[in-house]
Amino acid sequence: MSNLALHRVQSSDHQVVVGRYCLAELAEILAEAAYADAKLFILCDGNTLEHCFPVFAEKVPPARRAELIEVAEGEESKSIEVCEQIWSALGELGADRSSVLINLGGGVVTDLGGFIAGTFKRGIRFFNVPTSLLAQVDASAGGKTGINLGHVKNQVGLFNNPEGVFADPAFIETLPRKELMSGFAEVIKHALIYSPGYWREVKALDLHEPEALDPLILRSIQIKNEITLSDPFEQGRRKILNFGHTVGHALESLSLEGDAKSLLHGEAIAAGMVCEAYISRKFGLIDQAALEEITDFILGLYPRVPVETLSHHRLIELMRHDKKNANDRFNFALLADIGDAVYNREVSADVVIESLNYYSRRV
Ligand SMILES: NC(=O)c1ccc[n+]([C@@H]2O[C@H](COP(=O)([O-])OP(=O)(O)OC[C@H]3O[C@@H](n4cnc5c(N)ncnc54)[C@H](O)[C@@H]3O)[C@@H](O)[C@H]2O)c1
Ligand SMILES: [Zn+2]
Repeated sequence: MSNLALHRVQSSDHQVVVGRYCLAELAEILAEAAYADAKLFILCDGNTLEHCFPVFAEKVPPARRAELIEVAEGEESKSIEVCEQIWSALGELGADRSSVLINLGGGVVTDLGGFIAGTFKRGIRFFNVPTSLLAQVDASAGGKTGINLGHVKNQVGLFNNPEGVFADPAFIETLPRKELMSGFAEVIKHALIYSPGYWREVKALDLHEPEALDPLILRSIQIKNEITLSDPFEQGRRKILNFGHTVGHALESLSLEGDAKSLLHGEAIAAGMVCEAYISRKFGLIDQAALEEITDFILGLYPRVPVETLSHHRLIELMRHDKKNANDRFNFALLADIGDAVYNREVSADVVIESLNYYSRRV
C-alpha cells in the first residue's frame, strides 16, 4: 500500500485534510489575511508537547509565534477545573474574539480544546490537529466536544465544529503501542458497521509497517464523516457508531472502579464488539461464520479482558446508568452483516450476560 500524500474530506462546513503533507496546507491557511493578524494559541499535553510540537512547529511556521498552553496528559484534564485554568490563561495572554486555538493532541486535547473554543468569549475559531490514532479516526471529527463531570464522561459539552481538521499520520509513529491498538479498535468498528471491503483491508493490515496505516486512517475518517453528516445530532443512523460501545462503555467504567489498571477505551470497545457480535448472531442478524471471524480477529489482537461472573451484575447496573438505555431493556446498535449495521435494537439483560459468557469462555 502506498503512503498517503494529501486528501480532503468535506464535512458540513469545514474540511478534514489527511496525509503526510496536510500541515503545509494549515501553514498556508494561517498565513492568509483571515488569520495572519490573529493571536494563535496551541493547546497540548505533556506528551504532545514533547513528541508532536517540534515537528508541528517545523511544518507550520506560524506556530512559532503561538502561545503554548499545556495540560497534564490523561482523561483527568477533561475537567471544569482545567477549563478554568485554560480560560484564565487565555485571558491573561490577551486572547480576544478573533484569536485562534489549535488543539494539538489526542482525543483529550481535541475534546477539551473544542469545548474551550466554543465557550471562551462565546466562541473563538479553532483547528484540530489530532495526534493519536483514536483522535484521527474518531474524536477530532464529528463536532462533539466536551468534558467530564466527576466520573461521568462527556457530561458537559457542545457540538462545535472546527475551522478544519488536519490529520498527519506521521504523528502516530511516536504513539505507544497500547494507544495505537486502542485507536485501532475504532478502525475495526468502522469496517464492521460500514464496509465489507474495508473489513478485508483491515484484516490484511500489517500493523508493524507504519505507513500501511495511512490509507486506513483516510478511509476511517471518510466513513465517520459520511455517517455523522447523514445525522449530525445523533437522532438515528449515527447511532450505528455505538456498535461495541454499550457493553464496551460498561466494561470501561467497571475497570475504572477496580484496583487493576484500567482499560483503555479501545480495549474495552474491542471486548464490547465481540459481545455485541454475539448478540447480533443471537438475533439472527449475522451467521455463525461471521461471528467466528470477528471473534477470532479481535481475540487475536487484544488480550481478553477478565470478566468475572461476579461482576456481571455490576456491569448491567452500569449499563442501566447509560443515558441511552431505559428500564431493563438496553438499546443496541448491532451488525446486520459484516459491513452493515442496524440501531435501536432492544436487548435484555439476560442476553447481555450470555454474550459476556461467550466472550469469556470462547477458546
Ligand atoms: N468527540 C468525540 O467524538 C470522541 C470520540 C471518541 C473519543 N473521544 C474522547 O477522546 C479521548 C480519548 O482519546 P485518546 O485515546 O486520543 O486519548 P489521549 O488524548 O489521552 O491520548 C492518549 C495518550 O497518547 C498520548 N499521545 C497522543 N498523541 C501522541 C503522539 N503522537 N505521540 C506520543 N504520545 C501521544 C497522550 O498524551 C496520551 O497520553 C476520550 O476522552 C474520549 O472521550 C471523543
Ligand atoms: Zn469509541
